[in-house]
Amino acid sequence: MSRVFSGVKPTADVPHLGNYIGAFRHWVSLQEQHECFFCVVDLHSLTVPWDPKTLSLRSRQTAASLIASGIDPERSTLFLQSEVPEHTELSWFLTCIARMGELSRMTQFKDKSRNDKGEAIGTGLYMYPVLMAADVLAYRADLVPVGDDQRQHLELMRNIADRFNRTFGETFPVPAPFIAEAGARIMSLDDPSRKMDKSSSRPNNLVWMNDKPDIVRKKISGAVTDSGTEIKRAEDKPAISNLLAIYSAVGGSSVEQLEQEYAGKGYGDFKSDLAEALVEFLDPFRARYEEILDDPAQLDKLLDGGADVAREAARETMKIVREAVGLRRPSR
Ligand code: TYM
Repeated sequence: MSRVFSGVKPTADVPHLGNYIGAFRHWVSLQEQHECFFCVVDLHSLTVPWDPKTLSLRSRQTAASLIASGIDPERSTLFLQSEVPEHTELSWFLTCIARMGELSRMTQFKDKSRNDKGEAIGTGLYMYPVLMAADVLAYRADLVPVGDDQRQHLELMRNIADRFNRTFGETFPVPAPFIAEAGARIMSLDDPSRKMDKSSSRPNNLVWMNDKPDIVRKKISGAVTDSGTEIKRAEDKPAISNLLAIYSAVGGSSVEQLEQEYAGKGYGDFKSDLAEALVEFLDPFRARYEEILDDPAQLDKLLDGGADVAREAARETMKIVREAVGLRRPSR
């Protein structure tokens, strides 16, 4: 049984369809056979300006979204990152072996800081991948299921784990990324050259997991399409390829089956069927999500229990790490 770790930032009220397709649906199936830790990484959401009034509410809503997506807190450890201080403690040890050069190469950092002058960028945004490495290594996890946008961060995490092991002795498994072939990069509905992104200022770029049926229908009918009429996955058809990936993920048919089913039909039919498939898929999510939020005491209980289990596992790791780096007094 491998140990699995993954996380989601609570930077919006609920996650979007890309988060579900690229990450959560795999978390749900991995929990069947592995020891899983799923974390609402609230400390990561402080790397860009945040509102203290909504931060903790969003963390709870994000946790509720994970349960509504199928994460079973009885089976997986579901918790909030800030309730396990070992993440930040380990992050310091890793900061001291991470290199400026490798952090400066992170494309997400370059993208997010592009419009700012260096002076105004929070150091947290720069150090973000080190905290991410600490999140995973604190549990000595083997497998990290993520979407394609996290690939580079995972590579850095592996380098940091490997460097730590070579310097201080074998301490961490070098974690392997789990990035599915299908749906690892869901693109924006209004611009298929950019990924679906919750921090985008374009509201029609994405479908929120709790969007109501009419909104879903409107967003899908307004989604951009490619030139031509064929419903086919192809490099020169990025918009239709993206809609096919979404349809396949929520409807259960493969892309090839969908291509056959829609051979000779137009974009209009395809989009309206996709919208209905999405509505049918999101309806039970929304109902379950609201039900969970209606019982805050139960949600708190689950998160408290998750934090207890996570803390215990992370404390074990920190004992080993402190010893390895030479912080333990010989008399203790
Ligand atoms: P976050 O919160 O941006 O996204 C959560 C998960 O959703 C995936 N994802 C997507 N997959 C497909 N298509 C998309 N358009 C799309 N957008 C997002 C992400 O790849 C991710 O798996 N840094 C991470 C959170 C994190 C983490 C960790 C993950 C913090 N510590 C340790 C793994 C291990 C992030 O910002 O995810």
